[in-house]
Amino acid sequence: MFLECIECKAEYSDTEIIYTCQRCGGLLDVIYDYSKIDLSFQKLNQPPSVWKYASLLPVKREPISIKEGGTPLYKCGRLAKQIGIHELYVKHEGLNPTGSFKDRGMTVGVSKALELGMKTVACASTGNTSASLAIYAAKAGISAVVLLPEGKVAMGKVAQALMHGAKVITIRGNFDDAFRLVRELCEQRDFYLLNSINPFRLEGQKTIGFEIIDQLGWKSPDRVVLPVGNAGNISAIYKGFSEFKGFDIIDEIPRMTGIQSEGACPIFNAFKRGDTKIVPEKNPETVASAIRIGDPVNAPKALRAIYDSKGTAEKVSDEEIIEAQKSLARLEGIGVEPASAASIAGLKKLVEKGVIQPDERVVCITTGHLLKDPEEVIGVCGKPIEVEADIDAIRAVISYEGSESLGVAPMMLQKVCKDR
Ligand code: F0G
Repeated sequence: MFLECIECKAEYSDTEIIYTCQRCGGLLDVIYDYSKIDLSFQKLNQPPSVWKYASLLPVKREPISIKEGGTPLYKCGRLAKQIGIHELYVKHEGLNPTGSFKDRGMTVGVSKALELGMKTVACASTGNTSASLAIYAAKAGISAVVLLPEGKVAMGKVAQALMHGAKVITIRGNFDDAFRLVRELCEQRDFYLLNSINPFRLEGQKTIGFEIIDQLGWKSPDRVVLPVGNAGNISAIYKGFSEFKGFDIIDEIPRMTGIQSEGACPIFNAFKRGDTKIVPEKNPETVASAIRIGDPVNAPKALRAIYDSKGTAEKVSDEEIIEAQKSLARLEGIGVEPASAASIAGLKKLVEKGVIQPDERVVCITTGHLLKDPEEVIGVCGKPIEVEADIDAIRAVISYEGSESLGVAPMMLQKVCKDR
């Protein structure tokens, strides 16, 4: 195993503490000797999990694990019908230990940090990365430092980072500022950087791709749709699919379809231009705070994933995100944070535009749990209705204004009440 620059192909040892190419500044990738990989996981009668595919992961020691991965792949008939496609699955990454897909990367990244002898790990984050880093650092018995954009991180995520003992610092700036600063900090101090620029971390995230194939009976879907922020996840999952194709486990790589928010969509814009480079956005803004990123570091990898898989990119408005979040919650019982709902909103839009065909077999990835961002929920659903502890007051509210927030059509509810 070694590290290779995706641009100039310079090679580095996997024991070096290095995040980008020293020659040209390009992103790095982990390269294995694929002739020596043990593929017996295909025959194991074992549920999916990150470490089921350990032969394709870069860790040589006993991993720091709190049982990550193995998330459900739900078949979503009601939502499929609403959107107008025949076969839709949702891979709910919100059911990882900390409630987001980041745990897949952190179990690998923090294990690697220990292997490299590092005592402090660090990241900048829109929230989920910091929560995950804090928890794995706690389990490993090392320190974690996290930089967050002030006032822009969902409450649940900050709570996790604080409770698990990370040093939590909020900066007066956005995620892109925090990321620039944490890179500088890691250069100056002996801190191990675990943002998705770290190629080892992304190896853990490629297991989302492995699990989808495993859960579909070693077959690939036609398309995978997911939200894109710093653009590590789409790159990692594409790599996972490419490796399975290289082993002839699957015939085709699914079309990688990246969804961004209208207020933060440099990758969508680059794709629209047919470009391989993004133009960074200075003031990204969206209700989906997890993907409020204007200068995604993994853009070169992500754009390759989209172009090479004949995929596409789309942007969605905050309103479309919220509508999709409600549809998922109310039609399928899947509770997600706004960024995750971007995948469903994007799918809907692309079906309406005729880019995605009704007969495609589609997997949407929902990246984080609903409880991460309770303030957004109150903002879009309203507060619970407060009444006296009195049956008539409750009945009055049920048959009138409460009906909307109970998720039942008002007319229907009035009729039900009358029938009784
Ligand atoms: N969805 C959620 C819930 C996220 O937290 C993130 C990224 C993404 C999607 C986008 O993934 O960056 O790999 O394209 N969150 C990072 C963080 C930036 O700091 O938690 P990506």
